[in-house]
Amino acid sequence: FDFENVTIDQHGPLAVLTVNRPKALNALNSETLGEISQAIDLIMDNAEISALIITGSGEKAFVAGADISELSQLTDVYAGRDVALAGQDVMTQISQLPIPVIGAVNGFALGGGFELALACDIRVASPRSRLGLPEVTLGLLPGFGGTQRLSRLVGAGRALDLMLTARQISAEEALQMGIVNYIADEPLSKAREVAESIIKNGPIAISLVKEAVRRGLDTTLEAGCEIEADLFGMAVATADFREGTGAFLAKRKPEFKGE
Ligand code: HXC
Repeated sequence: FDFENVTIDQHGPLAVLTVNRPKALNALNSETLGEISQAIDLIMDNAEISALIITGSGEKAFVAGADISELSQLTDVYAGRDVALAGQDVMTQISQLPIPVIGAVNGFALGGGFELALACDIRVASPRSRLGLPEVTLGLLPGFGGTQRLSRLVGAGRALDLMLTARQISAEEALQMGIVNYIADEPLSKAREVAESIIKNGPIAISLVKEAVRRGLDTTLEAGCEIEADLFGMAVATADFREGTGAFLAKRKPEFKGE
C-alpha cells in the first residue's frame, strides 16, 4: 500500500491499522483521515480478515487530535461543517464495520484521537495514556462524533464534565468511567488477545450484536427490542447457529464458517 501516514499489517485474521504521522503525534489531517478510510476499504476487501485493531505509532501518542494547523485555516461556516462531516463519515465507517474493532490506545488520545478511539467497539489503553477532549481550549467543540458517542457511552453528565473542563484523564480514570475496557502495558498485544477471543465466535453473530447495539442506541427501548428480535430471527436461520448449537450438544468445539 502506498499510504503516507497509515500502515496496515496483517497477522492471520487480524488487521492492524497504525496511524503513523510521528512528527505531529499522529494528528489527523485530511490526508490521514482519507488514508484511514481507504485502508479500511482495503482491509474489508480481504476475506481473511475478521478483526481490526487501530493504534498509533510511537510510544507517546495514539492520536493527538485533528491537525490544529489545518483546522486553524478554517473561517467559513460551511467549510467547517464539511470538515466535521468528513471526519464523522470515517468514524461512522469504523463503527459500522461488521467485524470487531479494537482501539489500542498507546498514549495521548485527545480530541479527534479520542473520537477515533470512541468509534472502536472496545478500547485497551496503556497505563501511560491520557485521554481528553480539549476542543474548548481552542474555541471549538468535538466534531468527529465525540459529543454524541461519549454521551452515549458514559452519560451526558460525565461527558459534559470532560468536554467542558477539557481535562485529561488517566487510563485508570477512563477505566473507572467505562471509557476503556482494559489497561495493559502492551496495549497492542492485549488488543490482539481480545480480538482472538472474539473471533472464535460466530462471525455473523458478532456482526449482528454490533448492529443491534448500534441501532438500538439511536431509538427507543421498544424499537430497539424489535431490532433485536429481527436480528435474532436472522441468526437462527444461519448455518453458524446450527454449527454452534450442534457443537455444544455434541460436546465439541464449533467451527464457524460465517454462513
Ligand atoms: C497538529 C500537533 C497536534 C495536533 C501535537 N502536534 N498535536 N500538530 N495538530 N493536534 C505537534 C506539535 O505541534 C509538535 O510539533 C509535535 O506534534 C509534538 O507535540 P508537542 O506539543 O511538542 O509535545 P508535548 O509538549 O509533549 O505535548 C503533547 C500534547 C500536545 C499534550 C499531546 O501536543 C497537545 O496538546 N496537542 C494538541 C492536542 C489537542 O488540542 N487536540 C485536539 C485538537 S482539535 P512541532 O513541529 O512543534 O514539533 C480536534 C477537533 C476534532 O481534535 C474535530 C474536528 C472537526
